[in-house]
Amino acid sequence: MESKLGSRLPDYEVIKPLGRGAYSYVYHVKYRSTSQEFALKIIEKQVVVQKNLTNRLLNEIKLQKRLNHPCIVKFYHSFEDEDCIYLVLEYCAGGELFSYIKSEGRLSEDETRMLCSQLVDGIDYLHNRGILHRDLKLGNLLLSEDRTLLKIGDFGLAVKLSNYSEERSTLCGTPNYISPEVVNRQPYGLAADLWSLGCIVYGCLTGNPPFESPDIQTTLLKIKDMSYSLPNYLSDDAETLIRSLLSWNPDERLSIQDVKNQPFFKSQFFSTLDTRTLQSPT
Ligand code: ADE
Repeated sequence: MESKLGSRLPDYEVIKPLGRGAYSYVYHVKYRSTSQEFALKIIEKQVVVQKNLTNRLLNEIKLQKRLNHPCIVKFYHSFEDEDCIYLVLEYCAGGELFSYIKSEGRLSEDETRMLCSQLVDGIDYLHNRGILHRDLKLGNLLLSEDRTLLKIGDFGLAVKLSNYSEERSTLCGTPNYISPEVVNRQPYGLAADLWSLGCIVYGCLTGNPPFESPDIQTTLLKIKDMSYSLPNYLSDDAETLIRSLLSWNPDERLSIQDVKNQPFFKSQFFSTLDTRTLQSPT
């Protein structure tokens, strides 16, 4: 893929590969005429057709294009050539929260609060617009270079609630973060993202998501049985937040508004972050 990129993308300088998704490659690129840096997501059309992903990709573009929030990776534009579709996205120089946690072991409660309050702001923005992300996980959260700003990325599985009646029992998302109602193929709604938020907070504070296992089947069984343990170094506020998000019954789970009022987030001011940007778009 990399060797052919230079000739395909004369307007961009390819700086380095950033990662590979299930059906895409992401590169750090510089737009030559303005020197602005972006993350360029490249999807091979052949793979999209083979894997029947056309609707998923069109949905991702349509949804992410309309979003404009400091805690969500900005979608600038898309273009295509004969073989590939290209999504030009905001570049987050700090990489994935997943990699940051792996390098640190685990995060302090203060750092978790600072990063997760931005995640809560981003989810609030999505849920207010009836958008369910469905794949919130440490690997889909991106950081600024100094790791103080967090942005939600990858809208490949996101759905707008009005379009989603036929989708509501589809098993999707990454096994470690999916809720019992999704595992049990029950109808699900916004509360499924709140379960994932609980797994993310747990992952920040302990280093691993709560139901992680060597194989997918064991992870799914652990989720169904609610089999997880809370280490004793967690504060009471952190423990209460995690327990109330990892509630088996989605109707009893905290809503995003409830999360903002949790004692764990007591010192955070939500939605006061709107003036921040990682880099100013030209
Ligand atoms: N990896 C995937 N998407 C990315 C982005 N927007 N910025 C940095 N790294 C990424």
